[in-house]
Amino acid sequence: MNIVRAKDYKDMSKKAASVISSQVIMKPNCVLGLATGSTPIGTYEKLVEWYNGGNLDFSKVVSVNLDEYKGLTRENDQSYYYFMNDHLFSKINIKKENTHLPDGTEPDSDKACSDYDKVIEAAGGIDLQLLGLGHNGHIGFNEPADEFIPNTHCVDLTSSTIEANQRFFASYDDVPKQAYTMGIRTIMLAKKVLVVVSGEDKAAIVRDAFFGPITPEVQASVLQLHPDVTLVADDAALSLIK
Ligand code: F6R
Repeated sequence: MNIVRAKDYKDMSKKAASVISSQVIMKPNCVLGLATGSTPIGTYEKLVEWYNGGNLDFSKVVSVNLDEYKGLTRENDQSYYYFMNDHLFSKINIKKENTHLPDGTEPDSDKACSDYDKVIEAAGGIDLQLLGLGHNGHIGFNEPADEFIPNTHCVDLTSSTIEANQRFFASYDDVPKQAYTMGIRTIMLAKKVLVVVSGEDKAAIVRDAFFGPITPEVQASVLQLHPDVTLVADDAALSLIK
């Protein structure tokens, strides 16, 4: 694993955006696996800035996002589609038809998940997968469990994740309790993985995920087996790593 140490969130965002931009420059028709959450927002801002400066072209890029809440429409401002559009897609020249997320409005979970696996397969797999890291080690919405689930599946979100997401909703009851998420096999098949982490509150999970035992109780720990992982983290998130 390659660890890139950043000074702070801003520096982490710039360094992570550099990795993504070099992927887009090296392979203009690459497939980017993208993430939502607060951590990648600064990374997306940098990509938008460099796009506006004329340094990046996303016209041939295909994107597949990690996850989407079940039951939220694209127009719902808490959906991950809305987030991606707001922070990135509407601000760069990626073609809307080349951007993909699981269909949160599909009530049939099996169909939503197998349809999404077909989309990823048709895209030819993922060249670079961007990941944030949950406090409990989740990646995508692959929550602590006694197994790694390979393909896209519907998950019941844990109470800690629902609580962490509550800040984006009016109340606990409004937070969706299920989501569709890419599975671990799909993430592990990405040619490159880029994990972004910031803040002291993530220091313990960074230590456990990347230096602890490989276990589905800490889903991100499986990344220790991936041949090309880059962790871009700030000093605070790396504070428990010697
Ligand atoms: C987002 C996702 C989640 C987040 C994780 C960290 O698409 O799949 O796994 O990456 O919950 O979230 P933040 O960055 O808000 O701490």
